[in-house]
Amino acid sequence: MPAELPRDWSLAQRRLHGLTAACVVAAFAVAWPMAGVPLAQLLLKFLLYQLHKTLGIAAFLATLARLVLRARRGRPAASALLPPWQRRAARVVHAALYVLLVAVPVLGYFTAATAPAEIPTFFLGFIRVPHVVGPHEGAFTLLRLVHRAAAILLDVLAAGHALAALHNHLRGIAPLATIWRWRTARTRHSA
Ligand code: HEM
Ligand code: HEM
Repeated sequence: MPAELPRDWSLAQRRLHGLTAACVVAAFAVAWPMAGVPLAQLLLKFLLYQLHKTLGIAAFLATLARLVLRARRGRPAASALLPPWQRRAARVVHAALYVLLVAVPVLGYFTAATAPAEIPTFFLGFIRVPHVVGPHEGAFTLLRLVHRAAAILLDVLAAGHALAALHNHLRGIAPLATIWRWRTARTRHSA
């Protein structure tokens, strides 16, 4: 961690935050219809599973990149206008989000690897991700339950986190643009 805190989120940190959020929400949205597609529509089911796995792996990789950046660069201090209990609560929620952002894809990977159906995992549809363990009915039954429960917890926490961020933005004490900005601020050129 650097000695001094940065004044702002870097462009890479902001983009990775947005990318992670989009992938997590999309992986969650795809998960329910994918499981419900009947086996008769095998190709559609296969494609939805691969899309789900790709989104989950992308969220995982983006999270690892975020953690590396955070360790090297740090993060800006939370708004001084926030009451101390809210700053403490935000720290706890952010830590829980990071744990779940790593755990949910890892659990998903082992769910896929132990599935009796032995469906391979492709990242982006063409990069084969080897399964380090084989099919196992008992482990699969447990892992799919834990993966699903952890994914629900991740999305509920993320929704609470987003609502809190929106609330503080509307109260004018922590503008969303600090992290929801995809470009660097335009520099003004004087004539
Ligand atoms: C699945 C969705 C999301 C996830 C997993 C997520 C995760 C996180 C995490 C882990 C941090 C802490 C960054 C750090 O300390 O290194 C963070 C920061 C932040 N997020 Fe999200 N986020 C999500 C969606 C959103 C949304 C939709 C909003 C806005 C409506 C939002 C607003 C913010 C803000 C403002 C911060 C900075 C907080 C601060 O400076 O203390 N996030 N997010
Ligand atoms: C942030 C990332 C992820 C989220 C939010 C997520 C969410 C979910 C949810 C909610 C389900 C339950 C669907 C249901 O039971 O109807 C599910 C199932 C599943 N997920 Fe994920 N997942 C993520 C990442 C991954 C990854 C990375 C993989 C594999 C590489 C994966 C593989 C699976 C598999 C195989 C199932 C189906 C298990 C079954 O047949 O019942 N997931 N996921």
